[in-house]
Amino acid sequence: MDITRIKKSKIDQIDFDHLAFGEVFTDHMFVCDYQDGEWQTPTIVPYQPLQLDPSCSVLHYGQAVFEGMKAYKDQEGQAWLFRPEENCKRINTSSKRLAIPEFPEAYFHEGLTQLLALDHAWIKPGMGNSLYIRPFVFASEPGVSASPSNAYKFMIICAPVNAYYSGEINVLIAEEYSRAASGGVGYAKAAGNYAASFYPAKLAQKEGYQQIIWTDAATHEYLEEAGTMNIFFRVNDRLITAPVTDTILDGITRKSVIQIAQDMGIEVEVRPIKVAEIIEAHQKNQLIEIFGAGTAVVVSPISSIGFRGKRYSLPKTDESHSYAEKIKKQILGIQYNTAPDPYGWRKAVDATID
Ligand SMILES: Cc1ncc(COP(=O)(O)O)c(C=O)c1O
Repeated sequence: MDITRIKKSKIDQIDFDHLAFGEVFTDHMFVCDYQDGEWQTPTIVPYQPLQLDPSCSVLHYGQAVFEGMKAYKDQEGQAWLFRPEENCKRINTSSKRLAIPEFPEAYFHEGLTQLLALDHAWIKPGMGNSLYIRPFVFASEPGVSASPSNAYKFMIICAPVNAYYSGEINVLIAEEYSRAASGGVGYAKAAGNYAASFYPAKLAQKEGYQQIIWTDAATHEYLEEAGTMNIFFRVNDRLITAPVTDTILDGITRKSVIQIAQDMGIEVEVRPIKVAEIIEAHQKNQLIEIFGAGTAVVVSPISSIGFRGKRYSLPKTDESHSYAEKIKKQILGIQYNTAPDPYGWRKAVDATID
């Protein structure tokens, strides 16, 4: 790997207590080009703008996928990643669907390790503080022919972030727009999935909802996922979540929540969930909690759901009885090395630079 270090770090100019999510980036970035049918020598260079030809393929055909992961630091100054091999696997699953060449796993892990070693000081200890890591790959070939690009850039950039306080989350159940259709790219973390969700999300915001719960495109009868979160419903003492299909992102937090909940003795049902059954459970006072699960928020309780002009509010569950709170606490304990990790999910970051 070729490494060019920054001459002078900008870290002293950063107010680490007041970070807007994803607006400040660390000193370095990882870049690896795909040319002539293969991935070239990976590099780490000072964080800087890219120069792209206006005809650059990604700007026209959206051939781009990304990942979202975090590094955490414990009180001893050791940095940790949470299930990073899953992000590596998933970006390649996404790439495959978008006809992007897969990125070698060894390059991914080595690049990430070296980048985190260089920018180690940007990972701040303290519950809630973390370094948001954004790997992404895009078609970089100039030319407007509607065909897969012959050149790509795989990059990793990092942004220090504080605890994610989303405030109250009210979600609207989608009936007109769809996030993904069967046979499409819903299971991929494709850039275009997010672009397509912004307009319906804006309309929902006008009605006072922060997020949308997407339903299946064919019937709008089944609940899928919300924003950048998989979603869990607690009906009485059972936790229910939709199975991952080709329209749902296979969330790493989601599978961690399922495992932890089961190990806590909570009954978890992974099956299609009808909107009608959730509304009925609410009417019978059996709908106890709804929460989203994703890297940015970990686990985030939902206050109400909107459906056909009506808002269904969730009762306030006291912290000691909330599944969301119990599961979140356990995941955070693993991520910040304040609790045992029986699953081997926590991976130490080696802070030595080659
Ligand atoms: C559409 C979507 N669903 C679910 C998730 C949650 O996935 P993870 O837990 O791996 O962050 C995300 C975020 O990455 C997402 O963008």
